[in-house]
This record gives sequence, C-alpha cells and structure tokens, in this order.
Amino acid sequence: METAQQVFKKFGAIVLTGGSSGIGYALLTTLVSIEHNGPIFNLSRKKPDIKCEENRFFHYTCDLEVPLELDQALETLIPRLQASSGPVLLVNNSGFGAYGPYPEPDLETHLRMVDLNIRASLNLAGRLLPLFQNRGGAIVNIASTAAFQPTPQLSTYGASKAFLLHWSLSVAEDLKPYGVHVMAVCPGPTRTAFFKRAGFASPPTPPFLSQEPAAVIYAMAQGLKKKKTLVVCGFKNRCIVGLTSLLPKSLAARMAGYVLKKVREP
Ligand SMILES: NC(=O)c1ccc[n+]([C@@H]2O[C@H](COP(=O)([O-])OP(=O)(O)OC[C@H]3O[C@@H](n4cnc5c(N)ncnc54)[C@H](OP(=O)(O)O)[C@@H]3O)[C@@H](O)[C@H]2O)c1
Repeated sequence: METAQQVFKKFGAIVLTGGSSGIGYALLTTLVSIEHNGPIFNLSRKKPDIKCEENRFFHYTCDLEVPLELDQALETLIPRLQASSGPVLLVNNSGFGAYGPYPEPDLETHLRMVDLNIRASLNLAGRLLPLFQNRGGAIVNIASTAAFQPTPQLSTYGASKAFLLHWSLSVAEDLKPYGVHVMAVCPGPTRTAFFKRAGFASPPTPPFLSQEPAAVIYAMAQGLKKKKTLVVCGFKNRCIVGLTSLLPKSLAARMAGYVLKKVREP
C-alpha cells in the first residue's frame, strides 16, 4: 500500500494554491515531509507557516481573485518551474463560500468568489498547460460535495463547485491523449477555517459528519495513484452524494434549502 508521500514523490514539481490554511496546509505539510524532492510553489495571500529544505519551497503572495496578481506571480514562477524536471502536479485548492440568501453579504463577494473558485483555477491550468503537455502530470481541482446539488443559502459557492466538477471531468477527457491526469476532489464538511470565512456561526454539520483535512489529502493521493477523475472523500460523503444525485434537481434544491436555512436560525 503506497503512502500519500510515495504518491506525491513521483512528481518533479508541485504548484499549489491556498497552502496557508486548512486542506492546503495539510497538503503542504505532507509535501515538505518528503525529503529531497522537487520544488513546491504556493500561491496564497498569506505566507504558510511552514519549514522546508532550503531552495525548495517558493511562496508567492498573491490574491487570486485579482487576475493581474496571478500574472505577476507567474512571471517568476514559470521560469523556476521550467528549471525543474519530471511530471508536474497542480492543485487548485484556494476557495471560499458565503452563507446567506443571494446576494448576501453583497454582490461583490459573489463576483470575487467566481473569480477565485472558477476563473483562477482555469487560468492557472491554462497557463501551465504547455508544461503539462511536455512533461505530463496531474491537475487536481478541489471541488466539494456541494457540487452535487443546488445549495440555496450557498448558491454561488455550490454552483462554482458544480462548475469545477463538470469542467474537471470534461478536461480529463480532453487532456488524456497528452498523458495529463485531471481529477476533481470533493471533500464533505472538513474542519478548517472555511465555515468562519463563509459566515457560519458554527459548522453546519454534526461532528460525526465532518472530516479532518488529512483525510482529504489521503483520498487525493489514492485518487492520483488510481488515476481517478472524481474522488468523493469518505464513505459517508459518498453515500450522501449518491442519494442526493438520485433526486430531481428541484426537489434536491428545496431539501438543501430547508436544511441550510435551519442552520441560520439561532
Ligand atoms: N472545509 C470544508 O468543509 C470544505 C468542503 C469542501 C470543499 N472545500 C474546499 O476546500 C478548499 C480549501 O478550503 P479549506 O476548507 O481548507 O478552507 P480554509 O482553511 O479557509 O483555506 C482556504 C485557502 O484558500 C486560500 N484563499 C482564499 N482566498 C484566496 C485568494 N483570494 N487568493 C489566494 N488564495 C486564497 C486561503 O489562503 P489566504 O487566506 O492566505 O489567501 C487558504 O489557504 C476550498 O476550495 C473549499 O471550497 C472545503
């Protein structure tokens, strides 16, 4: 049985977004624990609090909601990436949600969410594509179990993750001839700072339905090893997703709206 470290070790270079917190931080912790491996590039607004071998970890302070900031970061990131060799792994992990009826808290937040959750992921994958086509590798997009049904009170968030899920599955087919593996990873509720930023007073799901970021990283590694295009993290999440996917979309929306609205009530 291969460990997550053994799976990630096969990549000559790794580009990650959102390594400063939660799922991204758990991934970064795993990556830096692999000794004498290729460079790791992180893009996020805050610098991750992490120790790594010298000249191996490169952080770019970058607000991915602003395309120009990504352009600026790529000016130095791409030449450094080109100096490495072997397959490349890109993990589009940065993302956020906003809880409340549309357009709460304000329209600008929803537009920025689309810019981060969707546009930045497509932009990064597109800009690095020549490297993937030359060297092979994998593009992992962190979607969510929220991608499988409409999510009133989290409308733009759920729809952005549904976009990412469908886009990943389509691009997985498009890039297969180049030997590039594309995979959507769908965590369920995970113990991170996500809910606080989204505006929840407390996580909306009971503790027994929540998972640790490390479980997401393990599922991601297993998916990479098995060349899966879709990974739903954890047995309970696979059951929930399986059941909600069977429902007519309008009924699923009403049910999700009922549950998510309840969380708002004191
Ligand atoms: N937690 C869950 O229950 C859950 C479930 C399913 C899917 N997900 C998805 O998992 C991914 C990671 O979220 P998480 O749970 O680990 O939440 P988190 O702890 O809040 O981490 C979010 C990460 O995204 C980065 N980020 C946010 N805005 C950014 C921006 N404008 N530019 C660049 N980076 C930005 C943050 O870095 P900076 O703040 O330093 O910029 C942070 O590292 C997200 O895509 C989320 O939608 C989470």
